[in-house]
Amino acid sequence: MTEAVNERPIMERLKTDTRSAHDDAEDQFFMRDLMAGTLPREVFAASLRPLQAIRACIEKHLQTNADHPAIAACIRPYHHFAHLYDSDVEYFGVASDRSAEDLKSVQEFCRLVKDAEDADPVNLLGIFYVLEGSNMGASMLRVKVQESYEIEGSEGTGAMVPHGRDLMPRWREFVECMNNLGLSAKQREAILASASNTFRVMGNLYREIYQPAES
Ligand code: HEM
Repeated sequence: MTEAVNERPIMERLKTDTRSAHDDAEDQFFMRDLMAGTLPREVFAASLRPLQAIRACIEKHLQTNADHPAIAACIRPYHHFAHLYDSDVEYFGVASDRSAEDLKSVQEFCRLVKDAEDADPVNLLGIFYVLEGSNMGASMLRVKVQESYEIEGSEGTGAMVPHGRDLMPRWREFVECMNNLGLSAKQREAILASASNTFRVMGNLYREIYQPAES
């Protein structure tokens, strides 16, 4: 794995090259209404199982490839937190006849993970980047969730703050680790493509969960 001396660090490229995808993500009706405090409680509740399903999917594949050098270097036990959704779901009392795995976008996400892994397991880190980075937005959105649904304590929002006060130190550690992987040019491009695809599929997920009537 050789890296050109003048190549910009992979995490810088991920941030700049996916910036417009991030802006689009913030622009989703789901996010806009959540920020505005107008997202119906039952819609937020209905998002939890699908989000858990996609998190479980990437975590499962990271676990399968835990011995891959890049994954072993950058993924820590605290990155496995899909189980945190269980108590959030319990708090919101979600009752749905539809299993999260039946959603098209959840299936699409899991296919993306499988295809990325088949091509080169290092691509899983591009997918993981998007989900892990989204914890930063989630920590801000959590305050909105607590206000909107009149939640006084930490109940119902555990999966939005999986790292607690360690969010930024852990993110910085991930950034440094990724930048030091010594990726080949081909791997870098494939990781970038995986991250872009992940933003796209996440957009599909939020649209599948929520399309307000006036849209
Ligand atoms: C209203 C919704 C959202 C808000 C307010 C928000 C806000 C933020 C903020 C403040 C940061 C850190 C600041 C920075 O370094 O640029 C960030 C980073 C990030 N967010 Fe979001 N976000 C939102 C939605 C999402 C969604 C839905 C995703 C993915 C599905 C996402 C993925 C990321 C990623 C990957 C990063 C890391 C960027 C980097 O430093 O490389 N965000 N977000």
